[in-house]
Amino acid sequence: MPQATVIDYLKQLEGQGVTHVEVDDQAREILREFYRRGAATPVQTKLPETSTPPAEISITGQTPTEQIASLAKQCEHWPAAKALGTLRETMVFSTGSPEADIMLIGEAPGYQEERQGLPFVGPAGQKLDAILKAMGLSRPEVYLSNVCKFRPAVKNQTTGNRKPSPEEMATTLPFLRAEIDIIKPKVIIALGATAAEGLLNSNQPVSKLRGEWHQFQGIPLRVTYHPSYLLHQKEGLGEKRKVWEDMLTVMEKMKLLISEKQREYFLPKS
Ligand code: URA
Repeated sequence: MPQATVIDYLKQLEGQGVTHVEVDDQAREILREFYRRGAATPVQTKLPETSTPPAEISITGQTPTEQIASLAKQCEHWPAAKALGTLRETMVFSTGSPEADIMLIGEAPGYQEERQGLPFVGPAGQKLDAILKAMGLSRPEVYLSNVCKFRPAVKNQTTGNRKPSPEEMATTLPFLRAEIDIIKPKVIIALGATAAEGLLNSNQPVSKLRGEWHQFQGIPLRVTYHPSYLLHQKEGLGEKRKVWEDMLTVMEKMKLLISEKQREYFLPKS
């Protein structure tokens, strides 16, 4: 069956409200092959606009909540992002408290985020919620955002995601900078190498960037692994412990109470 036919059929089912289909091993291998062919390739969703006038971000409103809402409104139709022609249409801005002390930044929305219009609502988001819970925090007590505010497009896109390119991240980085100006968090946590690349302009792996304090707009920034990386760790506590140690460092910086039990999370039992 040609790929386009499969996609049309699945879209038709989705339109009928079907959320899950069963696939056997053979079908799974065919779908994997479709994904391998399409997923890594940015696709031009429309022709780039060559004469887009530069736009300026303006912050309006009295309260941080109103000001963040004013940014989100402008970002929806942001000419620089639209002009690239490689990002999808739906904008996903941020969630959490615009008065939070801790700001966590990911790379870009994925399939689930685009559907729900909120960052970190898919499996990686659930992992992030569990990390926050272990810290004694919850989503409404922190601020969650992404460097790139649009889901990067790929050919024949269904549920697959691609990481944003530096150019794609650069188009919406001014919004993230404005968010930081409004929120004035005490600590920023960059989730994963792509977010760190967008913020620190470094293409070092997380293993090299974590373990020390960086700065972004004068605010202390810690880099840790993306929660989706933890989802793909088959066994062992090693990588979980590394993320947890990064979070303990943030908790110490924020002078949050840390129990003995919390200090020992993900250590091998002796
Ligand atoms: N991964 C991210 O980096 N951001 C999201 O919002 C979701 C998944």
